[in-house]
Amino acid sequence: MEEKKSILSGIKPSGELTLGSYIGAIKNWVELSDSYNCYYMMADMHTITVRHEPAALRRRTLEQLALYIACGLDPQKNTIFIQSHVTEHAELAWVLNCYTMFGELSRMTQFKDKSAKNADNINAGLFTYPVLMAADILLYQADLVPVGDDQKQHVELTRDVAMRFNGIYGDVFTIPEPFIPKVGARIMSLQNPTSKMSKSESDPGGCICLLDKPEDIMRAFKRAVTDSDTVVRHDVKEKPGISNLMQIYAVCTGRTFEEIEREFAGKGYGDFKKAVGEATVELLRPLQEEFRRIYADKAYLEDVCAEGAQRARHRAAKTLAKVYKKVGFVPKKRQ
Ligand code: TYM
Repeated sequence: MEEKKSILSGIKPSGELTLGSYIGAIKNWVELSDSYNCYYMMADMHTITVRHEPAALRRRTLEQLALYIACGLDPQKNTIFIQSHVTEHAELAWVLNCYTMFGELSRMTQFKDKSAKNADNINAGLFTYPVLMAADILLYQADLVPVGDDQKQHVELTRDVAMRFNGIYGDVFTIPEPFIPKVGARIMSLQNPTSKMSKSESDPGGCICLLDKPEDIMRAFKRAVTDSDTVVRHDVKEKPGISNLMQIYAVCTGRTFEEIEREFAGKGYGDFKKAVGEATVELLRPLQEEFRRIYADKAYLEDVCAEGAQRARHRAAKTLAKVYKKVGFVPKKRQ
């Protein structure tokens, strides 16, 4: 029987999980998890490129684990782990640093954005962060990397680095493909629909988090910025606010943009916003209930982490050993 292809993806536990991350990434992870051999991680090592609170990071990492499971990722079927539990990530990142060009990293738009936002802390980790992400992906010989649109450039860099390495040493790494959803690849802020919905956003009303209360979700949608027109129509350029709400509604209900346009023909924006709010509340309700149940069982979460890290290490160690051999490091004797 042919072996299943592999997937790796991750999310930084740097804030609460957002509706953007759910729609752009996790929802697709769940859908792909039957047909692929999947590795999904809490990318905790990625969070420290900006100043953070250690206690909050610990709490959010475990919350995120419980949320992954609550969203439908079965830890029996998927390898779910904490990135820092698998030391091979940092080790491969060092090697790949030596095969990634300064110019390539300078062109990363996220680096440019983040260094503008953190002008007093443009550390080397912020700059080489895409190399750690390349190591994450290549360690598991991932064929597919399901991410939102904002991570596409990092996956493309990963491909370039992998091809460069393979060009020198032969077939070491699988060249990964990004998997970007057709609808929902870039969910925008409800307050500023021309910028991405993000946990670090300054106006909290623009961002929906998966554990937000129903009344807060309804309020955020009610306040969502739209335009001075009255027609519900998909037109990202002219109507970014409405188009963003249509994306969210399409994902929540499984309807097409045409169906949504017909459903709200002749109705006002007020009705539409209310419907999007209600659909989001309904999408999140079962997930929040599951989260509460799973998060209360700390022993279970610890077991999932331990088992996930063990399975991940098994795969990662094989790739790292191959890389170390190729670059000429003397193999360690079995200890
Ligand atoms: P992060 O933590 O910023 O985001 C996690 C995932 O959610 C997607 N996403 C969105 N999709 C649609 N609309 C939005 N508003 C939105 N906001 C976030 C992101 O595209 C991403 O897929 N570097 C990565 C984490 C990472 C990773 C990896 C991903 C580390 N190693 C290896 C894939 C493979 C990051 O910062 O994502």
